[in-house]
Amino acid sequence: MKHVATAHSNIALVKYWGKRDHGANLPAAGSFSATLGDLTTTTSVEPIEGDADRVTLDGEEDTSGRLSRFLDLLRDRADRRTALHVETSNDFPTAAGLASSASGFAALTLAATRALGLELDERELTRLARRGSGSAARSLHGGWVEVVPTDDAYAVRVAEAGHWDLRCVVFLTAEGSKKVGSTDGMNHTVATSNYFDAWVDSVPADIEAAKQAVLARDLERLATVAERSCLRMHASALAADPGVLYWNGATVELIHRVREARSSGLPAFFTIDAGPHVKVFCPADAVPGVEALGEGVSNGVILSSIGGAAEVDEVAE
Ligand code: DP6
Repeated sequence: MKHVATAHSNIALVKYWGKRDHGANLPAAGSFSATLGDLTTTTSVEPIEGDADRVTLDGEEDTSGRLSRFLDLLRDRADRRTALHVETSNDFPTAAGLASSASGFAALTLAATRALGLELDERELTRLARRGSGSAARSLHGGWVEVVPTDDAYAVRVAEAGHWDLRCVVFLTAEGSKKVGSTDGMNHTVATSNYFDAWVDSVPADIEAAKQAVLARDLERLATVAERSCLRMHASALAADPGVLYWNGATVELIHRVREARSSGLPAFFTIDAGPHVKVFCPADAVPGVEALGEGVSNGVILSSIGGAAEVDEVAE
């Protein structure tokens, strides 16, 4: 019997940047995100004979062992030693530096816990996904999602996908995978940035403000918080030693264009993760105006609406 799960990527509007515990992968603060319905990972898991897992990512064998180590956590919880065959694929370019670990670990958590016979509630599933990747906790839910930074941090849905029909326009501004991954970038920031404490102190108020803005469907307010959180996260990384700079010239140009367009009445705001691409949120009818902002600087666009929760099915072979 095979279990097949799908999960969507997500983009944080109040960023997760820094851990307070590496072993349990505990975030130093909370975060707040929107789930992206058009960026999907599909993962199948089935028990196999023998002691070794077989893991393929987009058709290529995974030799990093990261997924197998994560599966060990789930096997410990289930008290079963079953080896597993995992096949996972993304319908969006992984190498483009988009958040494939978020949707990937969310889908894997859902499919593998089922394959191992674990019956867990949503909160527990988000805690396990977090152990794989912090942002993955949020991808189990649809819509607008918060990570609550307790001693065993978990994710909760703040509003469902249909609450507010915003779109996300992802401007790709470079080719190839990112130079400093999120985990390394944030660990280096925690270890060496003298702005890190100030960054962490700023997060709770931003989460509160972002939640209120989403519940009120107030784009101006959400724009203020999301851009502030993004710029402060990058400021903390820039102040590391040596500083981590994720942006290229096109990233900066797009920041200026989005801000100028908003001051001329286009309802849109940007956010940027641990890479050079720029994600712009706006209502559906503003998408053409936003897409036009990429002219001459962006080398590709991905459009997504806000998506639903991760799902799992049992498939007989
Ligand atoms: C900039 O979730 O990839 O995208 O827990 O080490 O796997 P690990 O980190 P990860 O970090 C995401 C960082 C971010 C901001 C965010 O998604 O909140």
